[in-house]
Amino acid sequence: MDFKTQIAGATGLTGVAADALLIVVCGDAAPTGLEPALDAALKAALADGDFRFKAGHTLVLHGAAGVKARRLVLVAGDGSAKGMRKAVSAGVAALKTGGTRHLAVALIGADAPGPDHAEALVAAVQESVYVYRHTKPSATAAAALAKVSLVCDKPQQASLNAGLRRGEAIAAGVATARECANRPGNHCTPGHLSSEAKRLGKAFGLQVEVLERKQIEKLGMGAFLAVAQGSDEPLKFIVARWQGAAKSVAPVVLVGKGITFDTGGISIKPAGEMDEMKFDMGGAASVLGTLHAVAQMKAKVNLVGIIPACENMPSGSAVKPGDVVTSLSGQTIEILNTDAEGRLVLCDALTYAERFKPAVVVDIATLTGACVIALGHHRSGLFCADDALAGELLAAGDAALDPAWRMPLDEEYDEALKSNFADMGNVGGRAGGAVTAAMFLKRYTGKYRWAHLDIAGTAWKSGVNKGGTGRPVALLTHFVLGRAG
Ligand code: BES
Ligand code: MN
Ligand code: ZN
Repeated sequence: MDFKTQIAGATGLTGVAADALLIVVCGDAAPTGLEPALDAALKAALADGDFRFKAGHTLVLHGAAGVKARRLVLVAGDGSAKGMRKAVSAGVAALKTGGTRHLAVALIGADAPGPDHAEALVAAVQESVYVYRHTKPSATAAAALAKVSLVCDKPQQASLNAGLRRGEAIAAGVATARECANRPGNHCTPGHLSSEAKRLGKAFGLQVEVLERKQIEKLGMGAFLAVAQGSDEPLKFIVARWQGAAKSVAPVVLVGKGITFDTGGISIKPAGEMDEMKFDMGGAASVLGTLHAVAQMKAKVNLVGIIPACENMPSGSAVKPGDVVTSLSGQTIEILNTDAEGRLVLCDALTYAERFKPAVVVDIATLTGACVIALGHHRSGLFCADDALAGELLAAGDAALDPAWRMPLDEEYDEALKSNFADMGNVGGRAGGAVTAAMFLKRYTGKYRWAHLDIAGTAWKSGVNKGGTGRPVALLTHFVLGRAG
């Protein structure tokens, strides 16, 4: 897909040459000063009751008199970047299976669009046209749409182009994450995640290293190994690095949970919806996606992605409830519930992260069902004891239209992890389950600034639109870019 800016010029919107002209109409009445042909079309639609100033309301007109584009799409918006995203999603949904090759988009009745609107436009289009085909090649690829232009005036062009480029990089990262997440567990194995990291490495200049069982054993990652031991699929510890700044600059480290399938292990999950546990590598997918976006933009920042990848399976060799293991940090863990495996693979990766002397570490994990109960599917859970860092991440999420919500980390929650047989148990109990999971991770992160994102509710959608969302690649990319020199 080609994203460009296009100057309306003397001929105005009615003269825009495109197969479809999508106008995001803001406000609560027809804007003044519209070109007569558009004014007539909008007023007629309003008079007939076929268009309303209600966010997302869409009307497609063919062959509107005095409008050069064959299709005129009116969508109600509110002038914000978020409104732009929703309006473009609605408009593209109405067009994407048709004959539109070139779509032009304009915003009226509000301030001129800025780079955030441009980014939102790209996100909306790419989200709408993505089709998963790897194991369903018969799925119809999005039809003709090949070029999208944002109509603007000359003075805005440079900043809008910058917004489009940022949007494209993020959308590419989101697509990488969605594609990884959507592939089923028998395709997206730990080995697949490592080859995907290597492929991105070759394409975008990342340094990629993959530790195998022997090295993982030698290092002493007893918690990670315990989760993997029930599976025949070899575990992988993936480290991918983007160096965009001087070597001396401390990196941002992202740690992504890479459980390519979570059966629960011996503490096995109920059968209903267990297929969705192929998405339990959503954190890992978002780390790969963010590396993709950041490297594509050649951001002047150092970024390290760490992915502990394995399956969580029941078998004769699987770890059992009550087993005690020694983590890389030296702390011992009583594995009371083998389904609380995410924190076990993450704790060793978080200890490993110390060696990069990070400026900050953010882990991303589909960690707890409790987080879905707490926040639903709109906001990811953010756990961070550092107010400044929490503020940065929340702001990045808002700017990226990929929002998070801050959750507590009071020391009182830590008591739930007490064990008589090890330094800690791996579960606290049902109450506050998302918080006790975060408290567990906190015990491994004393040596650097740290935040944890629980994306159990946001990494994928269930139901008819089942599939990975690519979240929180946009949040993370904004965060990392915000730290670039
Ligand atoms: N991957 C799951 C979390 C999950 C469950 C995400 C459902 C999205 C939907 C995680 O490994 C898990 O099983 N967590 C347990 C923890 C419990 C045993 C303390 C959970 O949330 O039930
Ligand atoms: Mn689990
Ligand atoms: Zn899991």
